[in-house]
Amino acid sequence: MKLMVVGGGGREHAIIKKLNENKDVEVIYALPGNGGMADDAVCTGIGATDIPAIVKFGKENAIDFAVVAMDDPLVLGCVDELEAIGIPCFGPEAKAAIIEGSKIFSKNLMKKYNIPTAAYEVFEDCDAALEYLKDAPIPTVIKADGLALGKGVIIAQTREEAMDAVKEMMLDGKFGASGSKVVIEEFLTGPEVSVLSFTDGKTVVPMVSSMDHKKALDNDEGLNTGGMGTIAPNPYYTDAIAKECMETIFLPTMNAMNAEGRTFKGCLYFGLMLTENGPKVIEYNCRFGDPEAQVVLPLLKSDLLTIMKACRYETLADTEVEFADEAACCVIMASAGYPVSYEKGFEMTLPADKTGIFVAGAKLEDGKLLTNGGRVLGVTRTAPTLKEAIDKAYAATEQIHFDNAFMRKDIGQRALKAL
Ligand code: AMP
Ligand code: GLY
Repeated sequence: MKLMVVGGGGREHAIIKKLNENKDVEVIYALPGNGGMADDAVCTGIGATDIPAIVKFGKENAIDFAVVAMDDPLVLGCVDELEAIGIPCFGPEAKAAIIEGSKIFSKNLMKKYNIPTAAYEVFEDCDAALEYLKDAPIPTVIKADGLALGKGVIIAQTREEAMDAVKEMMLDGKFGASGSKVVIEEFLTGPEVSVLSFTDGKTVVPMVSSMDHKKALDNDEGLNTGGMGTIAPNPYYTDAIAKECMETIFLPTMNAMNAEGRTFKGCLYFGLMLTENGPKVIEYNCRFGDPEAQVVLPLLKSDLLTIMKACRYETLADTEVEFADEAACCVIMASAGYPVSYEKGFEMTLPADKTGIFVAGAKLEDGKLLTNGGRVLGVTRTAPTLKEAIDKAYAATEQIHFDNAFMRKDIGQRALKAL
């Protein structure tokens, strides 16, 4: 089979490595891919949001199955367009990807179907939002409606900060059209859990839970990033909580999307907060998390391509989805200065055995692998215990070199304390 994967980061590298375990896979094309995954896929350089070029490529290369792994092309209707020319896909159609593409859509969905989430108000007018903030409870959370590269959420500790955030989004156009409407919501507290799930619209199968580390610096200090590391499973996510989430969140969400005529097929990601009043949804994503995929997929024992096809052909209930009873840790190696400003173009040296090395930002130039992004790569190790997985992941980072490399030293420490 000839496959294509739309996207080019560490998550896509993890998906590609897993798909390659299936003996029927002849070739995987990555659109665009990056130089660090050239051993595992043919990197085309085609932009992940260039839908006409993606469709043309799929047709010309007689692709048998496509995995659209990134949020932007999903929201733009990449799956709809590929399916329209007869290429079956893993990933939701645009009308279902809206669950991530519009916070207003997802909040209204949860309200309508009684799915637990933070209380909220929607504003399309800046003055009304500022008026509301005059006596809203503080801290408060301001969210741009649309996709904003993971930066559209502001936790405001003061009223002034909240008002500034609203003005930046609604008047100054900080996130373009994505911020012309905002959600202002209740500030919740509690441990956060990421639960990715496979769904075909009839069945929802949660994957092993995970924990992201979004802040740039140790002890969760510094700026928000795309994620500096992950561990799985998440120790806060007990069997009892998992059962409650299935009943109050996962199944109700799948059913709600069906009832709205927006059947979701693909990976539905539940960003949860375990509050004093039970688990609540912080966000939905219409795709695998990055770097959650980098810990969840290495623990998957079943064949990923078979599961992805089952999601597309609605046979998930009859498909084996099994995870190893182990732990995983992924440490992200970034370029110093990320997420603000950083240099690129440093030569990278990787060990010969690239198991568990998922490259996010690199390019090949004259046979040399050079850094080409803020988050450069992730290193994942699995082991019987979380402690061992963490130690092995950090030991593996010592085999990898590039100038100005930077990583958090405490990935997984919070989870270890919770155990
Ligand atoms: P999101 O992009 O929606 O995942 O939000 C980014 C981060 O902001 C989340 O991972 C949470 O840590 C935090 N966050 C979002 N919504 C809330 C909320 N209502 N209360 C507290 N923290 C939140
Ligand atoms: N790691 C969070 C996300 O992928 O949205």
